Amino acid sequence: MKWINEKAKTLQQGAIRAMFDRANKMTGVISLGIGEPDMSTPKLLCEVCKEALDKGITHYTPNAGLLSFRQAIAEKSHLKDLNYDPHTEIIVTNGGMGALSLLFLVLLNKGDEILIQDPQWLNYVAQVDYCDGTAVRVPTDFAHNFEMQPETIENCITPNTKALIINTPNNPTGSVMTRDTMEKIAKLAVKHDLMVISDDVYNTLLYDGAEAPCIASFPDMKQRTMIINSFSKSFAMTGWRIGYAAGPAEIVDRMTKCQENFNACANAPGQYTCAVALDHPELSEELRQIFERRRAILLEGLAKIDGIRFNEPKGAFYAFADISSFGLSSVEFCNRLLDEQKVVCIPGSAFGECGNGFIRIAYTCLDEKLYEALDRIETFCRSI
Ligand SMILES: Cc1ncc(COP(=O)(O)O)c(C=O)c1O
Repeated sequence: MKWINEKAKTLQQGAIRAMFDRANKMTGVISLGIGEPDMSTPKLLCEVCKEALDKGITHYTPNAGLLSFRQAIAEKSHLKDLNYDPHTEIIVTNGGMGALSLLFLVLLNKGDEILIQDPQWLNYVAQVDYCDGTAVRVPTDFAHNFEMQPETIENCITPNTKALIINTPNNPTGSVMTRDTMEKIAKLAVKHDLMVISDDVYNTLLYDGAEAPCIASFPDMKQRTMIINSFSKSFAMTGWRIGYAAGPAEIVDRMTKCQENFNACANAPGQYTCAVALDHPELSEELRQIFERRRAILLEGLAKIDGIRFNEPKGAFYAFADISSFGLSSVEFCNRLLDEQKVVCIPGSAFGECGNGFIRIAYTCLDEKLYEALDRIETFCRSI
């Protein structure tokens, strides 16, 4: 079509969507592919939203978001000890993705390089490419629990490197970066004068005593860190599209101007609701406990399947399992698993070259479905 520009023509459907398109043509499928909480938003929050609508909170908000909400983020979110100024250093966005896209729009000149883990949730790469930046992948491996190693990062740094993205707990691996590695990465960022984009959207979903400190809390880091977060995973609110970014005032100011011109603001009743959500961490904890139980079911089931290897994921709701012993690529494995046993998993190669030989398994379905899916995976593995 002649009206579409060259850049838009390069946009591709992601491999995750492609799996779902295949699965949608079948019946009796169990999906371990979905990267969102399967449960509905907590009732209390839905009631708060109704109240917002009744109160007439249905108008545009300031471009940076309702000030009361930004204040709540500064005082009650994981940023509370870091003294972010809600007037200048926080912007409310259309989910975490909205924050990332505004950020890349204001950050990137042609050829600027952004370091992104491999394997990693791929939308970063797509957004960076679209904004004329260059995504440089930092390889990781099973032996190091898919954690970016400071020496490997350093080898990827060039004079064009502008920023490094970290995402812990991680999608797709479920890995949680150790404090020690985070400290080393922070020092590296200071040494090479890099910005760090810290995508914290899974940071309420931690297990086995794992912790996810905020990289902005390390020495000299606050002024070079942009925090991305949202309510999608922590409060089962993916469809509400509420997220935020917190970081240096000059960048937040540019992102706010960008938001003014592109989409005005995030939805008003959602902002009102999420401000109240911050008073109810127990709602988020309830979700975490459900995922903790399912994680135990999944790991116990996987451990019984000959040929599958995995590191125990300490966060998010994913396991990243090594299926290379079966002699199939991860795409072949997932396609055949779907065709023969009607279970959706996502090929690890969808997240980068280093994901080949692995599959991402999301435990975002009911316990009984998870048990049934594990039986089917075991049957499939035995058959090959
Ligand atoms: C690592 C990561 N970051 C950000 C997001 C975006 O979430 P949202 O835009 O719903 O806040 C996702 C969603 O899957 C994700 O996996």
